Amino acid sequence: MAAQPLIAPSILSADFARLGQQIAEAEQAGADWIHIDVMDGHFVPPISMGQVVVAACRKVTELPLDVHLMVENPDALLQSFAESGADHIHIHVEASPNIENSLRAIQKLGCKAGVALNPATPASAIQSVLHIADVVLAMTVNPGYAGQGFVREVLPKISELRAAIAKAGSQALIEIDGGVDADTLPAALEAGGQVFVAASAVYKHPQGIAAGMQALRSASLQAIKP
Ligand code: DX5
Ligand code: ZN
Repeated sequence: MAAQPLIAPSILSADFARLGQQIAEAEQAGADWIHIDVMDGHFVPPISMGQVVVAACRKVTELPLDVHLMVENPDALLQSFAESGADHIHIHVEASPNIENSLRAIQKLGCKAGVALNPATPASAIQSVLHIADVVLAMTVNPGYAGQGFVREVLPKISELRAAIAKAGSQALIEIDGGVDADTLPAALEAGGQVFVAASAVYKHPQGIAAGMQALRSASLQAIKP
């Protein structure tokens, strides 16, 4: 279990014309990982970014690049994303015909393997791979867009996953993705979340990126106080 909550700003809400600078600002403000949302226009309606953006990010930061594949047929893309500089690759259980094989393929490429699940997908869908996954990415919005409201109904599933991971003797971290801000983070942490992805709360914070990071950090530290 992570000693203290990790924060992974998602560049989906960054200003792409100034991406390097926007990543540097998040890094200086204490980002732990950089989350990169890859959307293919099929698994989810939008097309966002691909391998060239991962490679560009790789040049400007040494933070772990946390690549979230919201794509159909993810197996075909694993190698190219690993070669572009991804450190972690998440695939959706809803998109993978054989999730165990896909997770093992990611690890063979030298990356941490994450299994993502949509709000409506039950914890039981990933039970059989909890001992393999390095990360479980619990979506707290339906994937596809930044700026949506946190789906509180997912909270019991997060607790269920936390217990199932422990029972499986797995070291997998639980990462929470969607609608995370200073108000919603404490409940997600309380339920068992350890890594928190945030696009809008960092990159659209009215006082700027550093203020957005600071608000999340204080909310997370407040929540773990005994
Ligand atoms: C949604 C993406 C999320 C998104 C989060 O499909 O997977 O990572 O960027 O955006 P916010 O933090 O604005 O909900
Ligand atoms: Zn994401």
